[in-house]
Amino acid sequence: MKKTVLVSGGAGFIGSHVTVELLEAGYDVVVADNFSNCDRTCFEGVKKITGREDLPLEVMDFCDLKAVKALFGKYHIDAVIHFAAFKAVGESVAKPLMYYKNNLESFLNVLEVAGAQPGGCNVLFSSSATVYGEPDVVPVTENTPRKPATSPYGNTKTMCEDILRDTVKASDGALKGILLRYFNPIGAHPSALIGELPRGVPNNLVPFITQTAIGKRECLNIFGNDYPTPDGTCQRDYIDIVDLARAHVYAVTRMMEGKMKKDCEVFNVGTGRPVSVLELVNAFEKVNGVKVPHKFAPRRPGDVTAIWADPTLANEEMGWKATRTVEETLKAAWAWECHLAQQKETGSDDTGKATSLKDQILQAADKANEAISDAIDKVKEYSALSPEEKKAKQDEWNSKLTEAAEKASDSVKDIVDDIKEGADKLFKGKKD
Ligand SMILES: NC(=O)c1ccc[n+]([C@@H]2O[C@H](COP(=O)([O-])OP(=O)(O)OC[C@H]3O[C@@H](n4cnc5c(N)ncnc54)[C@H](O)[C@@H]3O)[C@@H](O)[C@H]2O)c1
Repeated sequence: MKKTVLVSGGAGFIGSHVTVELLEAGYDVVVADNFSNCDRTCFEGVKKITGREDLPLEVMDFCDLKAVKALFGKYHIDAVIHFAAFKAVGESVAKPLMYYKNNLESFLNVLEVAGAQPGGCNVLFSSSATVYGEPDVVPVTENTPRKPATSPYGNTKTMCEDILRDTVKASDGALKGILLRYFNPIGAHPSALIGELPRGVPNNLVPFITQTAIGKRECLNIFGNDYPTPDGTCQRDYIDIVDLARAHVYAVTRMMEGKMKKDCEVFNVGTGRPVSVLELVNAFEKVNGVKVPHKFAPRRPGDVTAIWADPTLANEEMGWKATRTVEETLKAAWAWECHLAQQKETGSDDTGKATSLKDQILQAADKANEAISDAIDKVKEYSALSPEEKKAKQDEWNSKLTEAAEKASDSVKDIVDDIKEGADKLFKGKKD
């Protein structure tokens, strides 16, 4: 029987590429996302690439324990790949609580429910090379000591790694875990139907390069050209998104086939090839025959000088190896940007946006419905009390009823906000 993999955050950048590779490897996939950082574009792209019009999509928030329980009740899940998290380092510094809440609570809920599945479950967590901080020695192996994180985002990765390890250990074999530490995922699917869709100013280098090349941005800043590296710019391990996605298939299969050597394993997912920022920009210009206006700017606080992976463990233990060249990756990234520009020109991206807004509004409406029913139930319960009971517990009931009414009112406000946000987004899309 086919095994089913739940991909949380599966409509996002990495999740959509992983979904394609899982489907192509013969797994059944359930995609679940709350569309907080994406729209329907990539989900629709996955369906086109794989021809799977029936691909299940659950619009839900992993911070909602009830919804996570319902999801696991609806499908028989053999493995979960957890991508549902916020990922912008700068934003996490400005809004730490939002990051701790979303990234930790969503993962805690997944572990709680996955751990209670009869027959157990496999959990794969999307960690990051950020846990190594500024390493003393490069390349880094899985045994390189983790360094204290420099942002709340980084902290959530370190914390989730520890949470998974502890939970697997305490689960008495019910849970198995793999932590994949990604280096710098870049590029897009060769079909140009899915890729990275940053909201606003991109945080990552390659979308900035492609947006500058196409004229959406005036100039690319390269932060620092006085680092102790061959050309003075930072060095990273840029890994093609399709190679990265395939690593997930190897990891899931390893879990399903009982090939793990420990109940919780860690693998670096990188190429083992350092490439500097300047080298990447030059390679992009050369391979695509386009100019990327760029200038050097002062170093950015918190940027690591050089980091790349030693991927030996993943190569030898999982049998996975990155195969795509930087040139192939940069061609795919450019093809994706051109595809987006073409969609904008023809207005066909509005359909994707409108569908995901509809999902968001329907989700808010479901929540409102639940809050209003709850308030009505409480009022009925209160009305059924005798005058003595009402009097004896007046304070308790006052706060219960007020809380229920406030929740109902807030949930209606959420719908209105979503509708306003939706109208703004569609209108802005027309102006851009
Ligand atoms: N892209 C990178 O450079 C990189 C590097 C290392 C690790 N990671 C990690 O990989 C994961 C996926 O990254 P990505 O680049 O695909 O990001 P992404 O933002 O494109 O994808 C994450 C998806 O999760 C969804 N989501 C967020 N919170 C949710 C919630 N509570 N419930 C349901 N859905 C929710 C978002 O709508 C989004 O579609 C993240 O955990 C990220 O931290 C990414």
